[in-house]
Amino acid sequence: MYVEHPMTRMSKPILVTGGAGFIGSNFVLEWLACGKGPVVNLDQLTYAGNLANLANVYNDSRHIFVHGDIANTKLVERLFAEHRPFAVVNLAAESHVDRSIHGPGDFIQTNIVGSFRLLEAARAYWIGLPEGERASFRFLQVSTDEVYGSLEPGAPAFQESHRYEPNSPYSASKAAADHLARAYYRTYGLPVLTTNCSNNYGPYQFPEKLIPLCIHNALAGRPLPVYGDGQQIRDWLYVADHCSAIRRVIEAGQPGETYNIGGYNEKTNLDVVQTVCKILDELKPVAHHSSHIAPYASLITFVRDRPGHDRRYAIDARKIERELGWRPTETFETGIRKTVRWYLDNTNWVSNVTSGAYREWTVKQYGDRVV
Ligand code: NAD
Ligand code: TYD
Repeated sequence: MYVEHPMTRMSKPILVTGGAGFIGSNFVLEWLACGKGPVVNLDQLTYAGNLANLANVYNDSRHIFVHGDIANTKLVERLFAEHRPFAVVNLAAESHVDRSIHGPGDFIQTNIVGSFRLLEAARAYWIGLPEGERASFRFLQVSTDEVYGSLEPGAPAFQESHRYEPNSPYSASKAAADHLARAYYRTYGLPVLTTNCSNNYGPYQFPEKLIPLCIHNALAGRPLPVYGDGQQIRDWLYVADHCSAIRRVIEAGQPGETYNIGGYNEKTNLDVVQTVCKILDELKPVAHHSSHIAPYASLITFVRDRPGHDRRYAIDARKIERELGWRPTETFETGIRKTVRWYLDNTNWVSNVTSGAYREWTVKQYGDRVV
């Protein structure tokens, strides 16, 4: 039997950080669409944050957007005092592994210092709450499967008890934040929950990540860069399934617990790119179609590997299914088709986010990588 978290049915807001990013904006849009109550959305609008993602809720009085940094203690304290949220979902982060390799500083600042300051402000607010509200308050730290490190082929998928072995500055910074979140539960009793999720894909993902990058490049006739031999394995989860899992954990998760979230979709990177190509061949065939080679797949280009590249991630998501009754609804085949279609239908969104700064990044990242 699952008990719905009582506060979600009341009109108190939820504080979402990073709600203009990929997962955050999907989460905010769905939260409002589900009639779950108001949202205070705190986002610094880095290159990855985009208000256009939230265009459908511009005029929705239940959505309060605040432009700011989670590390700005004064601002965050004021938001807690003014809006009195019943829960926090911390999605604000620097999230791209390749950027963390080029420059880890921002990752340390936002993912570690920022999460620490947010936890501190949440703790100060939570201590002052009346008893009932203190018991039902939740702080959800959204994390990644990358904190567990790399799996050998055939090794069992990551369970929640897997040791932390982060290998990139990104995953190390996320691991540090998870440890802080855990310590705030153990030391202070702050009702913290942590979720570790596999690779997301879907609408509004910035085209620096594998799937949107390949769709974007394919449509422009540019190379589809596959790192190393392309045999690295990731588990892929459609973003709406991640959002429903987060809602479920807020409603029914046990404070102090960690829940792994995954899609049961282990794929090699090469498989993923080839699948994207096949769907594009079908939905947007190029003019001169060769009868032998799928035209988009002919753009696949193997490039030098990412340093420290984790070979395989796989998520064992049975705990969240057993304890909270959550399972993903999309298979990779259904989710990737929806995703490709979304990018084809939203070329304006893509043109807007792939500005001058985006081009500078792609030159820095791929300029010398084609082998
Ligand atoms: P994203 O990069 O698309 O969005 C991050 C958002 O955070 C952006 O809107 C950005 O402006 C905002 N932000 C950055 N620094 C901030 C700061 N200091 N203060 C306030 N806002 C700030 O990331 P995403 O893919 O949506 O990921 C969201 C969260 O989910 C991250 O914590 C990430 O580690 C985690 N996660 C992502 C995936 C994935 O596949 N994308 C998988 C597992 C976990
Ligand atoms: P990415 O989307 O960057 O997510 P993450 O590093 O968080 O898993 O990359 C997914 C996989 O795709 C990863 O193994 C790296 C690989 N990759 C490429 O092969 N080529 C690319 O251009 C990018 C961006 C990623």
